[in-house]
Amino acid sequence: MSTESITATINTSEAEALALDAADPLARFRDRFHLLPGRIYLDGNSLGLLSHDAEAETLRALEQWKSLAIDGWLGADPPWFTVGEELGALVAPLVGAEPEAVVVTGSTTVNQHALTATFYRPHGARRTIVATALDFPSDVYALQSLIRLHGGDPQRDLVLVPSRDGRTIEEDDVIAALGDQVALALLPAVLYRSGQLLDIPRLAAKTQARGIPLGFDCAHSIGAVPHRFDEWGVDWAFWCSYKYLNAGPGATGGLYVNRRHWGTAPGLAGWWGYEKSRQFDMVHAWQGATAAGAWQISTPALLATAPLRGSLRLFHAAGIAALRAKSLAQTDYLARLLEATGLTAPPYSFAIGTPRRPERRGGHLAVEHDEAPRIARALKARGIVPDFRAPNVIRLAPAPLYTTYHELWETVEALREIIDSGEHLRLTAGRELVA
Ligand SMILES: Cc1ncc(COP(=O)(O)O)c(C=O)c1O
Repeated sequence: MSTESITATINTSEAEALALDAADPLARFRDRFHLLPGRIYLDGNSLGLLSHDAEAETLRALEQWKSLAIDGWLGADPPWFTVGEELGALVAPLVGAEPEAVVVTGSTTVNQHALTATFYRPHGARRTIVATALDFPSDVYALQSLIRLHGGDPQRDLVLVPSRDGRTIEEDDVIAALGDQVALALLPAVLYRSGQLLDIPRLAAKTQARGIPLGFDCAHSIGAVPHRFDEWGVDWAFWCSYKYLNAGPGATGGLYVNRRHWGTAPGLAGWWGYEKSRQFDMVHAWQGATAAGAWQISTPALLATAPLRGSLRLFHAAGIAALRAKSLAQTDYLARLLEATGLTAPPYSFAIGTPRRPERRGGHLAVEHDEAPRIARALKARGIVPDFRAPNVIRLAPAPLYTTYHELWETVEALREIIDSGEHLRLTAGRELVA
């Protein structure tokens, strides 16, 4: 059963899938990627594919290291010294921020630490952190350790807003948890398992009215869902660049800090957050950069950052609004196809765990099944790459820069054939180490 049923009909033919591809205004971007020969890749929400543009920028960075060595910090094109700020300005339009409010630095969890260490200021009875029961585990581990650092007790001071259905979080429940005792709130923009998109402007308005700093983990929304952080007054946010941004495994992530917090002393300072023009004065008195750059800590990992420049070129050429439109159309097509071809009824019994309203949906579709681990592996054996999240979710992520409608049609056919043939039942049960 889908969480919100739909009624509109859909043409389930292969010809229709091909026609949708023929009419796709973003189809030309597919050739810019290293596709996996003979395979359908639906795991771009875990690790995006390599583009020729990202590859070229990485090779260029290596060339510049070879030819310039230490002089690359100022002499490379663009200079490595300001790469975080320069790329931050290119990521800023994806989250609706002014250029200086975003910096490319660190990684998801490290950036979470850098920001929460700044904005969590427990005092008196105000020491609770609000997060959700469906958060990615790393976020929760980091919050628990932050509370311990402040001498608190995670059992008492961390409130995880429960889910009513095991898939989604109700914004009303989050708002009800925002009492006087709350010192900070951290929420996922898009939930990693179900793909639910939270109502960010509504939550930001509530927390602002109550004086609670609110941050978002945007690992599953950056590059897939446009945000308007400046307009909504979000306090801070962070993300990685290896999922929808296609910048490679462990690529440098990013963070956002709203202008009203610029000048706040970072909780985890390092010399890379120093005012750039004076960083090499090497004095011990802190003078932070004026904007989000102040939350950088260390020398950037240039080779893990360079691919992002190439990748962002594709995002700017395609436009985040057009990418979102295609992403929504593709997840909707996939869900309707599953329903219209009978796969959400016995004997197939797949369930759609992602909210159906576009404004509540991120970039992937969560397809649930009791046999999900084995079905995911059977898909992989057929050359279709999904991913699996325990206990019962197959995540299918159409990446609008390179996924075709026909690939989605083929995936639904494969799901039917797997259940019809029982081929998944011949695989060993259980999940893989990296699922
Ligand atoms: C929602 C979310 N938050 C945090 C993380 C942790 O990311 P990292 O290993 O880059 O710190 C991930 C990783 O996939 C994630 O999906």
